[in-house]
Amino acid sequence: MKNIAVIGVGYVGLVSGASFADLGNRVVCLDINEARIENLNKGIMPIYEPGLEEVVERNVKAGRLFFTTSYAVALKDAEYAFIAVGTPSDVDGQADLRYVRMAAESIADAMDHPIIIINKSTVPVGTGDWVADIVRNRRPDAPEFAVVSCPEFLREGSAITDFMNPDRVILGSTNREAAEKVAQLHLPLRTTIMITDLRTAEMIKYASNAFLAAKISFINEIANICEALGADVKEVAYGMGLDKRIGPAFLDAGIGWGGSCFPKDVKALAYMAELAGRHPQLIHAVMDINTDQRKAPIRKVKKLLGGSLEGKIIGLLGLAFKPNTDDMREAPSVDIAWDLLRERAKVRAYDPVAMDNARRLLPEVEMADNPYALAEGADALILVTEWNEFKNLDLARIRDTMKQPILIDGRNIYDPHLVREMGFLYMAIGRGYNGVGIEEIIE
Ligand code: NAD
Ligand code: UGA
Repeated sequence: MKNIAVIGVGYVGLVSGASFADLGNRVVCLDINEARIENLNKGIMPIYEPGLEEVVERNVKAGRLFFTTSYAVALKDAEYAFIAVGTPSDVDGQADLRYVRMAAESIADAMDHPIIIINKSTVPVGTGDWVADIVRNRRPDAPEFAVVSCPEFLREGSAITDFMNPDRVILGSTNREAAEKVAQLHLPLRTTIMITDLRTAEMIKYASNAFLAAKISFINEIANICEALGADVKEVAYGMGLDKRIGPAFLDAGIGWGGSCFPKDVKALAYMAELAGRHPQLIHAVMDINTDQRKAPIRKVKKLLGGSLEGKIIGLLGLAFKPNTDDMREAPSVDIAWDLLRERAKVRAYDPVAMDNARRLLPEVEMADNPYALAEGADALILVTEWNEFKNLDLARIRDTMKQPILIDGRNIYDPHLVREMGFLYMAIGRGYNGVGIEEIIE
């Protein structure tokens, strides 16, 4: 059993803290958001994440997991302090490190024994050294400490499973002994543990996210070409993925990538590169393709509705940036809804869990109680998030209540032949012959 402090109880902090406790450690999770800590102490989760509540409850009951707003309490016996605070985008695209700075300063103020500070937040290359400088400058008399980078690779929606079954653990430090101690913590995960230098570890995180985003932008570009040439991107992706060098993952074409990480991290990588005097052409193309891709459903619905959306009722099936989360950060649904509103459409939406978060971002969008209420009287539906619930809808009932049975499948979840046979005017993404908007089908 080790004593661990985790700073920040968001997606990464809470999942890491609860999971480390589940591995038998004593974990104190800290946040400056008092309401979050108060709620956690009552068993109320601050985020929707499958399986999280159970793990938290189990470990609180077992006396291994605690929540506090006090750095003195969190660090009292801690040998390890994980920083897992947010690093959102600044206006110019660089990572905003104010929360990391605050966390580092608070650790410096509160530490009264040797400690390993571990950066789990996604931070620009060089931040580990910067954190060490902050602590040193603030507390020239500080007890011995080391900084280790340990980037996190979990995905929202499958965060607990991802944390417990990582493909690898990356550790970076100038202090080998400290990195090896952090490696010990991860041994129960039975995975490859790579120890490298701080900056390389920080770069591995950005490079990984940018590569995954590039894979999606690549397949979206191929999807658009498929549409023009009459090929089916789903089949193309399957055929490509059979090549082990390519692999099948992250080749689902759709309305583009969103979320709290890819958009900010790809931007931050471009910013870092430019600051260093480089011109990251590919990374810019990856972002540009993604911006365009969010317009695809608007173009399609406009075509099917004869060019104008004025006064038309458009329903959005799904709002979260991906299924199994309530996270609305950089969700494609937000851009799509605003574009529809600018076209003077009336926009409705339904999402199984993200509607509360979405209301704040989309005050002009009417929220429906369920997919069937969403469809009632609608001129078109756009599937935005591929929740399982939408894969098994009673489509006949949907069709019968709509004003016009128009369905834009932004995530390619339906069988084009089946839905067409049911009488829908259906368009998907990149499914040239099988499904979409090649001109002949529309005209
Ligand atoms: P989040 O916004 O969900 O949570 C951050 C938490 O930190 C908030 O509860 C906030 O109140 C708290 N906080 C801010 N300043 C603090 C301080 N000084 N002291 C204590 N707590 C403080 O963020 P997140 O999504 O968990 O992301 C955290 C980091 O992990 C980011 O750098 C992100 O890029 C990275 N990351 C996120 C994911 C993901 O799936 N969300 C995956 C991998 C890596
Ligand atoms: C992503 C990475 O997958 C994680 O490894 C990483 O830790 C995390 O970012 C992070 O750094 O925060 P996440 O954003 O939670 O995780 O979700 P993903 O499953 O990667 O999906 C991201 C976006 O890409 C979603 O909008 C999703 O709809 C889209 N996507 C994903 C596609 O359009 N096609 C695909 O084939 C896969």
